[in-house]
Amino acid sequence: MLEQPTNSDYVEKIDGVAISDLLRKYSSPLFVISEKRLRDNIRQLKSAFESRYQPVIHAWSYKTNYLNAVCATLHQEGSWAEVVSVFEYEKACALGVPGSRILFNGPHKKRPILERCVKEGARIHIDNLEDLYLLETIARELDKVTSVTVRLNFETGYSDSWSRFGFNLESGAALDAAIRIGNSSHLKLRGLHSHIGTFILDPRAYQVQIEKMCEFMELIERQTHALIDSLDIGGGFASSNVQQTARLQTERIVPTISQYADAICDTLLKMTAQRQAEGKPRLTLILESGRAVIDDAEVLISSVVAGKRLPDGRASYAMDAGGNLLFTGFWYNHRIKPTRPLQGLTEETVLYGPLCMNIDIVRQSISMPPLSVGDSLVISPVGAYNNTQWMQFIEYRPNIVMVHDNNEFSLVRRAENLADINGFESLPEHLNAHDYPHLTSRRINRPPDFNPNRIMANFLQSLPDSFRTGNTIRFTT
Ligand SMILES: Cc1ncc(COP(=O)(O)O)c(C=O)c1O
Repeated sequence: MLEQPTNSDYVEKIDGVAISDLLRKYSSPLFVISEKRLRDNIRQLKSAFESRYQPVIHAWSYKTNYLNAVCATLHQEGSWAEVVSVFEYEKACALGVPGSRILFNGPHKKRPILERCVKEGARIHIDNLEDLYLLETIARELDKVTSVTVRLNFETGYSDSWSRFGFNLESGAALDAAIRIGNSSHLKLRGLHSHIGTFILDPRAYQVQIEKMCEFMELIERQTHALIDSLDIGGGFASSNVQQTARLQTERIVPTISQYADAICDTLLKMTAQRQAEGKPRLTLILESGRAVIDDAEVLISSVVAGKRLPDGRASYAMDAGGNLLFTGFWYNHRIKPTRPLQGLTEETVLYGPLCMNIDIVRQSISMPPLSVGDSLVISPVGAYNNTQWMQFIEYRPNIVMVHDNNEFSLVRRAENLADINGFESLPEHLNAHDYPHLTSRRINRPPDFNPNRIMANFLQSLPDSFRTGNTIRFTT
């Protein structure tokens, strides 16, 4: 996606489109998405898995990036939607995704959305007992038998178990829930789900995950009438980003998609061989990979607005994008490259964002030659979690463009303006805007003979002689 000339480390174009042209048209800061890279990523993910195991479904984790252009591209590529809120569900529906291709996950599900999911055939991932009881009540009221998935959590030994989500395997809570569903006449347990964390660097974590999920599947199929049709292993594959804690280069620690696929598919085939021999239907493998699909398909272009030498001698620059747009900057050291060859000696440099906040730091320490005001930098990869977790804080959120084939590009989210932000607000009648008597002199009701100089003269006159200095104080009205 990023084209790097050989003479120096800078980036001039994105998929053949000059960054300077994009900035001229859409101004800085600017997010730029590569449609090609996004499609390449999802195709690579699917083929890596489908060449080793079938059937495979990819469900796009909306929270990772729910720009319509991103979701629509992935739905065109065949991805389902994995959503965790009413908002995300409605967004998927508005994009034309049928309920039967939506997985409703997460810990927050109220009655209206559960009713809608049941009616529209979405697959609900049960996270807690409240979900379970409410869903059963709704299915009974609607006289429907609803297929459900149960979310599990457990130790893999490789990452913290996200134990706040789903039912714990080791404690027996997961088995209790499965038996409870097994006894229900309106719920059918068809799927198992777990998400073992994010930016998982060791594919063996997924081997343990598959083993534990398959063992649990065998157990509940023996103990209840459940017949599991799908294993949803969540997301978590690492992207090419650089964790702040990383001690080695990304290329040396981030597994390839094929390495993840090997570990997962080999284990799945092994763990389901007996089941296959018994003639049971083959399990559908569901992937909810987010960051590995979108992260390196998007960059943020930000420009220098001011430079300053800090008291300790370091160079520093204020940029027009910071923590407001780069939420992932709290954990990752994004790659930062200029858009022109830079001249001069490299020196330790601090890059600050535009917010009037001391913590708004894009990079605490980076080695680079001097920059000039107006220089732009390309920050990458930023596709995962930034366009969803960004903040309208102090600054408006900027334009986002998508670069397509044949050097074409389009605006996929326009920059915010005051009308957008004020559109959410309403002002109570008695706070009528522009009625500020202390700020607008025309509103101050003074007597017609008001004369502050005479008042001051009278005041001075009333003082004892020793207080009078003879100085004249003049006021203007
Ligand atoms: C349930 C679930 N699925 C998928 C994802 C996507 O994860 P990632 O971006 O690490 O692939 C997340 C992220 O938190 C998640 O919670």
